[in-house]
Amino acid sequence: MELANANRLVFVLNGQRTEVDLSQIHPETTLLSYLRYHTQYKGAKLGCGEGGCGACVVHLSKYNTDTKETEEFSISSCLTLLGSIDGCSITTTEGLGNCRDGHHAIHKRIAGFHASQCGYCTPGWCMSLYGALRQADAKGNNDHRHGFSNISSLEAEKAVAGNVCRCTGYRPIADVCKSFAGDVDLEDLGLNTFWKKDELLDPNKLPEYNPTGVSTDSKFCGPRYEDARTTSLNFSYKDEFSGEERVWIRPSTLDEVLGALEKAAEENVEPKLVVGNTSAGIYKSIEPKVFVDIRNISELQIIKRHDSGIEVGAAVTIAKLIKALEDTNAIADDTLDHGKENCTRSLVFEGLANHLKKVASAFIRNTASIGGNIIMAKKLSFDSDVATILLGANASVKIISTERVESVLTMEEFLDKPCLDSRVLLLSVFIPNWNEVSNPVGNNGSAKFDEKLLFKTYRTAIRPLGNAVSYVNAAFLAQISLSRHQGNLVAKSLRLAFGAFGVSHAIRATSVEEFLVNKVISPGVLLEAIEMLKLQIIPVEGTPKSAYRQSVAVGFLFDFISPLVKDIVPPCIPDSLEANNNQSGNTFNHKKCSFKTKSIIDGKQTMEFHDEYTPVGQPSKKVAAELQASGEAVFVDDIPSPDNCLYGAFVYSKKALALIKKVDVKDALESPSVVSYISYSDIPKQGKNISVDGWYGEEILFAEDTVECFGQPIGLMVANTWHDAKRAADKVSVDYDCETLGPPILSVEDAGAKNSFYSVPQIVAPKPVGDLAKGMSEADIRIESAEVRTGSQYYFYLETQTVLAIPDEDECMVVYSACQNPDVSQKTIAKCLGIPTHNVRVITRRVGGGFGGKAFRSIPAAVSCALAAYKLKRPVRMYLDRKTDMIMSGGRHPIKANYTVGLKNDGKITALHVDLFIDAGFTVDFSPMLPYTIVKTMMKYNWGAFSVDYKVCKTNLPSKSAMRGPGETQGSFFAETIIEHVASILGLDSVVVREKNIHTLESAKLFYGSSVESPVSYTLPSIWEKLKQSASFYERMENIREFNATNRWFKRGLSLVPCFYVVRLSSRPARVTIFEDGSIAVEVGGVELGQGIWTKVKQMTAYALGQLWPGLSADIMAKVRLFQSDSISLAHGGITAGSTTSEESCEAVRHACDILVQKLQPVQTLLKKSNPNGFSWNSLIFQAKSQSVDLSAQTYWVPDSSASQYLNYGAGASEVEIDLLSGATTILQTDIIYDCGRSLNPAVDLGQIEGAFVQGVGFFMTEEHHVDNNGKLVSDGTWTYKVPTIDTIPRKFNVEILNSPFHQKRILSSKASGEPPLLLAASVHCAIREAIRAARKELPTDNNKHFRMDTPASMDVIKSLCGLNNVELYLKSLCISTKQ
Ligand SMILES: Cc1cc2nc3c(=O)[nH]c(=O)nc-3n(C[C@H](O)[C@H](O)[C@H](O)COP(=O)(O)OP(=O)(O)OC[C@H]3O[C@@H](n4cnc5c(N)ncnc54)[C@H](O)[C@@H]3O)c2cc1C
Ligand code: FES
Ligand code: FES
Repeated sequence: MELANANRLVFVLNGQRTEVDLSQIHPETTLLSYLRYHTQYKGAKLGCGEGGCGACVVHLSKYNTDTKETEEFSISSCLTLLGSIDGCSITTTEGLGNCRDGHHAIHKRIAGFHASQCGYCTPGWCMSLYGALRQADAKGNNDHRHGFSNISSLEAEKAVAGNVCRCTGYRPIADVCKSFAGDVDLEDLGLNTFWKKDELLDPNKLPEYNPTGVSTDSKFCGPRYEDARTTSLNFSYKDEFSGEERVWIRPSTLDEVLGALEKAAEENVEPKLVVGNTSAGIYKSIEPKVFVDIRNISELQIIKRHDSGIEVGAAVTIAKLIKALEDTNAIADDTLDHGKENCTRSLVFEGLANHLKKVASAFIRNTASIGGNIIMAKKLSFDSDVATILLGANASVKIISTERVESVLTMEEFLDKPCLDSRVLLLSVFIPNWNEVSNPVGNNGSAKFDEKLLFKTYRTAIRPLGNAVSYVNAAFLAQISLSRHQGNLVAKSLRLAFGAFGVSHAIRATSVEEFLVNKVISPGVLLEAIEMLKLQIIPVEGTPKSAYRQSVAVGFLFDFISPLVKDIVPPCIPDSLEANNNQSGNTFNHKKCSFKTKSIIDGKQTMEFHDEYTPVGQPSKKVAAELQASGEAVFVDDIPSPDNCLYGAFVYSKKALALIKKVDVKDALESPSVVSYISYSDIPKQGKNISVDGWYGEEILFAEDTVECFGQPIGLMVANTWHDAKRAADKVSVDYDCETLGPPILSVEDAGAKNSFYSVPQIVAPKPVGDLAKGMSEADIRIESAEVRTGSQYYFYLETQTVLAIPDEDECMVVYSACQNPDVSQKTIAKCLGIPTHNVRVITRRVGGGFGGKAFRSIPAAVSCALAAYKLKRPVRMYLDRKTDMIMSGGRHPIKANYTVGLKNDGKITALHVDLFIDAGFTVDFSPMLPYTIVKTMMKYNWGAFSVDYKVCKTNLPSKSAMRGPGETQGSFFAETIIEHVASILGLDSVVVREKNIHTLESAKLFYGSSVESPVSYTLPSIWEKLKQSASFYERMENIREFNATNRWFKRGLSLVPCFYVVRLSSRPARVTIFEDGSIAVEVGGVELGQGIWTKVKQMTAYALGQLWPGLSADIMAKVRLFQSDSISLAHGGITAGSTTSEESCEAVRHACDILVQKLQPVQTLLKKSNPNGFSWNSLIFQAKSQSVDLSAQTYWVPDSSASQYLNYGAGASEVEIDLLSGATTILQTDIIYDCGRSLNPAVDLGQIEGAFVQGVGFFMTEEHHVDNNGKLVSDGTWTYKVPTIDTIPRKFNVEILNSPFHQKRILSSKASGEPPLLLAASVHCAIREAIRAARKELPTDNNKHFRMDTPASMDVIKSLCGLNNVELYLKSLCISTKQ
């Protein structure tokens, strides 16, 4: 061991040898926090701290002394402990390239394929992809095309399935991945800047990929490079917060590990054995005192192939196990190819490997160990897939105690063992071979055609691939034989393992196994087996979705057993039984599997570029996209901490409604690292307890004597580190009186009962249309007071609420805030501190996603930090952890709607009345606008007469704010629900009812007034017809009918919905300054949130200044730089929301440029005289400067009151397939046509359309926002709240941007794109309904009635609507028919 390094950690960071003094490192320090707090590399971001988003992914390389090879892979730096990387090489996205030395091909392709928007997630994507490419290319099989990787399109897409992006909608990211794949067809790649539409596709136009371009070698660690595995590394650290010693031990032998366990046990300490440390993403509150790093112990790293199976050490990662299983089968294949005997190809290995590929995500599997997983399953009742499938495969484990006694236990014995104390180490897992020739427990070994092995594993989870634990999982193994004389298939032996269904650990359904073995299975027998199974699969009380889980377990059994049963329609026939099909007498008269989704995402982008305002209208690359990819783009939390900087963490209410008796901060303040507690009493005398000076009222910053929601801020703990501030906040004890104020209001019904409402100003109160009574009297049929509800939705911006407040001279405050509203932040901070507004400067350079959640909900964090900084006279920063952000920031408004409809027999609706009950939460925020926005989109159909009553309910829940399409999303959905209700009552296709009620120009004018603009602007009818054509709507409807008629267990649906969306323009400032060297600085009021405002403004600047002479715009594009929003430098910037900020800012800039053009024209005229052959921009500016022309212009653009609002149109068609056994939905195809006017930048608008749609898919399908009976948010992290990932978006995603005609009053004829397309995701919900309708037709109880389906249409909702007992009903019907 190198003595100089004895108490230092040595690793390579982006090619540089790095040493860390271990006495300065808390063993709990993650690689991410080291990178972000101790180095200049801020590319890796904290998105969740749970392994659930991929924002923190970096690349790790290490030398394996056994194989003498370097291993490399992506890892989540938020879970990897710094102590684990000794001797390794770490590469962050900055290590791949940068703006000075050149960006990496991945960075450039991200930019060129328009695959980043806010850019917060982008470094993580780059590193996940980089890891996949490195691994693929390390295989050495370089027979792919030059410039491409060994990776296939499918592998590349799967490798990034665990990364989350909330902005892009994933399709362009999939294109980036595919662009590296050796098997890619360039035609399949979407819109990019590398080649123009219709240009010859030349791979050389893609930025060059050099697989060996970046050095990730760990040998710069010096001797540590080889020694890390054999050298002990022990260090301890005195935790400043608790005052306790924390110890890191890295033994180099098994004996030393056992010694360390023994010592810990003697000292009564529960040690944390560290392998991947991924359990920290799940069990966050555990703060171990002793860490024992066991990754390098050779006995725990073994992978041994025996004739009878494979033995893997407990520290072997899931990724390595997959490879080992696949390699074993590959060796067997090779043996077979060479005609050798004793082949050992194993169906079980294949099944296990395939299942393991769905566990977590690639960057988790690369470090997560097999042992860690099953220990979590055993000790912590974790819903493990690994334990279940190992149980199904009859694996066994070897353990060793500190007394050095080894024992081998079957998985059942291991899981059943009452306790596994900390003196026991899991050594290895043995997985038997189960090949068909000879198996370890088999039937005398010999190979016979009529003896088959069946092994199948199952998991049902919200996402098929990306980071979602199962609701239920299972693994079934059967030895099947064909009884020749009767032609029946019989299970000779059977193992049925189930897990994760709300049980302490995986179990075997032994009674069912015994019952089925050696039986000829008829529908009746299977039904009996299912009833027995239901007695074994009983989730423990309180398990969410219990009935659903049980029903899915039944589905699994049915799926597995049904191919053995005659006269049954099985969901799927396993390959191994396919050959027996005829012999067994089974008639599988359907496709082998109803549908195998094509996993590679593809799509078509159709658009025209117009050139009358070039470069406006061109699909220019997003400003700073490469910087975002390379991690150089600076977000608020990337700004280095100033000297003396402190960290804040909210202390928030743990009750929904209570009086505060006492806040006890004594314990928390005792820690030397805690500096102060800030509460309302710290607000200066001249100031005010205010957190938002909002449109409809003020909100208080810190609770005084009452709390009104779970999550309401009570105070702020301030400490020396982020971690300690959070720990201190957790230590504060609040004594509540929950009796005096009575029970909290947690629903709109409670609010109604207590008359708890916010008032709605008349100016935004929706107005009725037509005569309701008359409309109702004309109806043939009435639907009376039907109900539908929408749930909430959390913003899930990748960057949580973030602030840095720095006190400045003379009572001033500079606040860097990731917000959409610097103006209101500024005035609120000033009010709170009691200082003039000009003392407060709020700066926002860029925001890592906002979606409305940083319009008002960011302000409390900014004000709190400013207050703390003011009091302590030190900088204070805050970055909300994901859980706190989710609990405090609220989200979309949940709404209940009751509707009464009058309709004619032909589907024409004559009148509609709606009662809306809007849950607004405990503060008013933007909520009084909701009735207006809901109604505006509900009016998308001609209801004849339309009236609405509404209540904006004040509840004791976190405040709801303006989430993307606030109210419009719900209103549009309500309208579609009503249409579908009418269609099902009349037994019509819903498209027929839609078309009966879609607006004519006249009716649109009646409902929307002047927002409809001119007849030529009313593009909806043509969009509608065009989409029916381009999406082959009727043809596919026909195909779907056929599909549904021939598929028993999968159903499809297709739906087409229109969108109407009113936007309103507001005033905006802008300033353009030209410098002497010709470079141009532009400031606009709007904030860059990822929506591409800077890109559009840059194009507009080039266009507007380019008016001086032809061809100038192209030169100017390269000279324009956009600057951060700064509430002092460019005041009155306004709120960045409502989809129109980009066009408003563009227009303001255009006006400013016009002023400059006017100033420059006289200079130009003079120059022309002296330079008749032309002159450059720089000489013009030089001349102007020397003539003292003011080269700066500022404007405040105010929209024309006659055109301050307009309507946006679009239509979307989605086709889905639902699985009737699990309720899982696959979106097979989505087609959208959206009218962008004359798009200012079609690439940016395309990103907005796709991104908004996918966010809508989350709202309509997966994002379940649950609050418990105490008002506490249950879905408070990536484990429980699932936004869409790349594996859940439409498999085929076609978008056409309609270039509608010139319009004098709109900004260069453009239209908005940020919010309206989100509404089109209702097409997915409606298509699901169609599929369910088809399924219900086959239920004996169905009489084709309307059924209510709220949002989201989650898997359990779908399954329930298809019949939780649909399998049993089906089998019963077979039993009856066979009796007949
Ligand atoms: C985002 C995410 C998604 C996930 N999704 C899934 C999923 O879909 N399905 C699934 O099955 N799992 C899933 N997991 C769980 C994951 O597989 C486990 O966290 C991982 O395998 C644990 O291994 P580790 O090496 O990181 O364990 P560590 O975190 O290092 O250790 C885990 C625990 O095991 C103990 N331990 C470790 N090794 C031994 C040993 N040899 N002997 C005794 N005790 C030991 C440790 O003391 C600790 O208590 C997911 C995890 C994450 C973070
Ligand atoms: S921050 Fe590490 S995975 Fe989300
Ligand atoms: S670009 Fe992916 S989260 Fe914003």
